Amino acid sequence: MKKEPDQSIVIFDTTLRDGEQAPGYSMTLDEKLRMARQLERLGVDIIEAGFAAASPGDFESVLKIASELKNCTVCSLSRALPKDIDAAAEALSRAANPRIHTFLATSDLHLKYKLRMTHDRALEQIRDMVAYARNKCTDVEFSAEDATRTNPDFLCRAIETAIASGATTVNLPDTVGYATSEEIARMVTDIRSRVPNIDKAVISMHVHNDLGLAVANTLAGIIAGARQVECTIGGIGERAGNAALEEIVMGLKTRKDYYGLTNNVRTEEIARTARLLTSITGVKMFPSKAIVGANAFAHESGIHQHGVLKNAKTYEIMTPESVGVKKTDLVLGKHSGRHAFSERLKLLGFSLSEERTEELFLQFKHLADKKKTVTDRDITALAESEGMSESTNTPRYKLESFVVTSGNKMSATANVILTRGDQMFQDSAIATGPVYAAIRAVEKIIAHPFSLDDYHLNAVTEHRDALGEVTVKISDAYGSYRGRGVSTDVIEASILACLSAINKMLEGASLGSGAASKMQHSFENDMLSAGHTDKTNLNSKLPNP
Ligand code: KIV
Ligand code: ZN
Repeated sequence: MKKEPDQSIVIFDTTLRDGEQAPGYSMTLDEKLRMARQLERLGVDIIEAGFAAASPGDFESVLKIASELKNCTVCSLSRALPKDIDAAAEALSRAANPRIHTFLATSDLHLKYKLRMTHDRALEQIRDMVAYARNKCTDVEFSAEDATRTNPDFLCRAIETAIASGATTVNLPDTVGYATSEEIARMVTDIRSRVPNIDKAVISMHVHNDLGLAVANTLAGIIAGARQVECTIGGIGERAGNAALEEIVMGLKTRKDYYGLTNNVRTEEIARTARLLTSITGVKMFPSKAIVGANAFAHESGIHQHGVLKNAKTYEIMTPESVGVKKTDLVLGKHSGRHAFSERLKLLGFSLSEERTEELFLQFKHLADKKKTVTDRDITALAESEGMSESTNTPRYKLESFVVTSGNKMSATANVILTRGDQMFQDSAIATGPVYAAIRAVEKIIAHPFSLDDYHLNAVTEHRDALGEVTVKISDAYGSYRGRGVSTDVIEASILACLSAINKMLEGASLGSGAASKMQHSFENDMLSAGHTDKTNLNSKLPNP
């Protein structure tokens, strides 16, 4: 057994790469930048900003994030191919601390069916491509894709070759979330005892959650000696996702007595980071999601409430404050002033411009006229709409007013008035329901056809006078765009959500088509340019990170 590894864990966040690959989580460049800034503030050590060779959009995101962030390492994924490594190196050229992350599958299954490669050829490719990457960047990570289903002897040879060629981190992914915790621990122990140069690299875990074991298996890897963990906010990622950052970090913190390990994450930023992800993507966390779900710190049963009131430790193993969930008994209402409102925004973790705070204050006042009390969840819902309305010089469409008539024995009609700069527009439409009619009227005004791909309506709180929160996804010939709107009137929330997406559409801030399909496209081109002209059978050869 090699010398004991040090006691600090490197947190490698892949929300913007593996996470963004998942359906429903694609982000615009501006959204990725906002997320990256918050991840840096959270204190992660490494941000995997994308897969530079996958598409021009991914290249641009890695480039922009690498140019801006100076306090953490910025990394790009690349297949073990010169052109991918070149793209990664170029996108990282302005990074203060760049890392190239290159991968090749090592399991027989992947080698035989996906790559059609022998063991010897794979070792050659690892040697050549890790050395190629190392020539361009001093910090190189090599991932043995599908490590947990790789023959252990071959895995040791692959890892030894990668380190001998210059890899400073070696990642052992459970790409398909198949392994048990014992198997993960055995794999790491095996690598540590059998790979002669293992002291020259950090061992990393990257575990998928197909059997719900991602966090448990990541922690099993740490106990066995891994010192880097690859994870995402909320556990988002391919299929069932990756290991959730917040669960790993709070596990290490809450059970420091057991793990005895440290890391650089500021746990008080966790709630804010998760909230930003939710507001950008429009995808809610499951209410009972550990650490960041709405119920994670709620005590409903009388026995629990009684215990917590007597001594919080009876049912609380960590405080809500330790992850940045701030509780307050003070309720805001229509007599609350600007100061109280902006203090509450700060307490809830929002740091907004004066202009935006003023805009929200007016919305809050409007809401307080309709509802007796305005809860923190209402204020959060209003403030999160910001994600849809920032940073543009183009005048945006705004809702001036609308009227709808609808009933169970008639068609719905909607009349909508919008403004854009100092212009005013009006149109009306008839449809089978009031939301549909309102959206059609909006579409007639903007004169730019789009399709509505996704529509969700949620109540922000449980009360009868709850705010309705609508999220939509629309698309035109150039891409997809998300929008979000909140109001006590669900038709108004629907129009606001559509306008938020429409303004992005007219600004051209497309979500792109998702890293996975971009990869697929680029891989197809590789295969075709390498002389494989039969496109029909390419799926079996696609990379599956
Ligand atoms: O799951 C996986 O194997 C990956 C690698 C590319 C690290 O995402
Ligand atoms: Zn992965």
